[in-house]
Amino acid sequence: MITLGIESTAHTLGIAVKDGDKIIHKFDTYQGSYIPRDLAEHKAKMFPILLKEFNMEFDLIAVSQGPGIWAPLSFGVSMANYLSSKYNIPAIGVNHGYAHIYIHEYLSKQKGELALYISGGNTSIVNLENLKIVGETLDIGIGNMFDKAARELGLKNAKELEDLALNHKNFIEAPYSVKGMHVNFGGLLTWFKNNIGKYPKEDLAYSLFHTSFSMLLETLARASFAFEKKNIIVCGGVAQSRILKQMLEKFSKFYNLNIITGPDEFNRDNAAMIAVTGEYLYNKGIRTEFPIKPRPYYRIDDLRYILT
Ligand code: FE2
Repeated sequence: MITLGIESTAHTLGIAVKDGDKIIHKFDTYQGSYIPRDLAEHKAKMFPILLKEFNMEFDLIAVSQGPGIWAPLSFGVSMANYLSSKYNIPAIGVNHGYAHIYIHEYLSKQKGELALYISGGNTSIVNLENLKIVGETLDIGIGNMFDKAARELGLKNAKELEDLALNHKNFIEAPYSVKGMHVNFGGLLTWFKNNIGKYPKEDLAYSLFHTSFSMLLETLARASFAFEKKNIIVCGGVAQSRILKQMLEKFSKFYNLNIITGPDEFNRDNAAMIAVTGEYLYNKGIRTEFPIKPRPYYRIDDLRYILT
C-alpha cells in the first residue's frame, strides 16, 4: 500500500509517501509569525514544489484534519479532497495530536500506555488505554511560552532560547504551578518578563526550561502512579528539547519508567506521522466522510469513541 501524507496545520507544510516500510518525507517551515493569511499563502506556494518530488501513484491520501489554524488547515484538507476526487483515491482525515503519538509506536514497535504530548499549542498527558486527556495546561501551551520568552529577549524562537540556556551558570527559583495533573505557565512567563535585566539571561532562560519541565515531569510521575503505567511516549515539537532529554534520562531511571520517543524529525510537525497514522486507521476500517472538513478544535479525546 502506498500512502500520501499531508501536514498543514500551522507553520509547517509536510508531504510524505509511505510505501510499505519505506517512508520519504519533505517539509518546509514558514519562519514568520502566526498570521493565518501568511501561513496559508506559504502552503499554497510550497505545495506544488514539494509534491513535484513524488510520483502520483497512491492508494490512500492521509491529511491532518486538526487541530490547527483554520487557514493553513483548510488549504491542506482542500488539496487532499482535490487529489482524492481527481485520481479517485480514498482520503482519510487524521488527528494531528494522535499522529504525533502513534508515529512513535510505529517506529519503536512498542505500545505506549501514557503520552506526554508537548508542542507550541499543546501540553497534555494522555491515557492511551482510553484516549482521555488526564492532565493539561490550564493556560498557554509550553512551546508558545518558550517562543514568547524568546521574543522578549529579541530571539527568533525557542531553539535559540535553549541555545542560550545551555550556557547558564546558576538556577534561579521561579514560580512553580502544578494542580494535580494539570499545570499553569502564565505566572512563570510573567516572572521571566519581569526579571529580564535583573539576572543573566542564560540563567533566566535555563530556569524557565528547568522549572516548566519539572512541573510536567511531576504531573507525569503522578499519572504513571495513578494509572499504573510504565511505558510513556514523549512526543511533539518540544520533545526535541535537549534540556528535557537530559531531565528525562534521570527521571526514567529514578521512577523506573520506559520512555518511548523518536528522532527529532518525527517530533517536529511532519507528514510522515500523518501517512503512517492514516494508513493504520484506514486498515482498521476507519473512514472519514468525504469531502473531509477541517477541524481546528479536534481534540485527541474526541477519538476515544472511535479507537478504544
Ligand atoms: Fe504538532
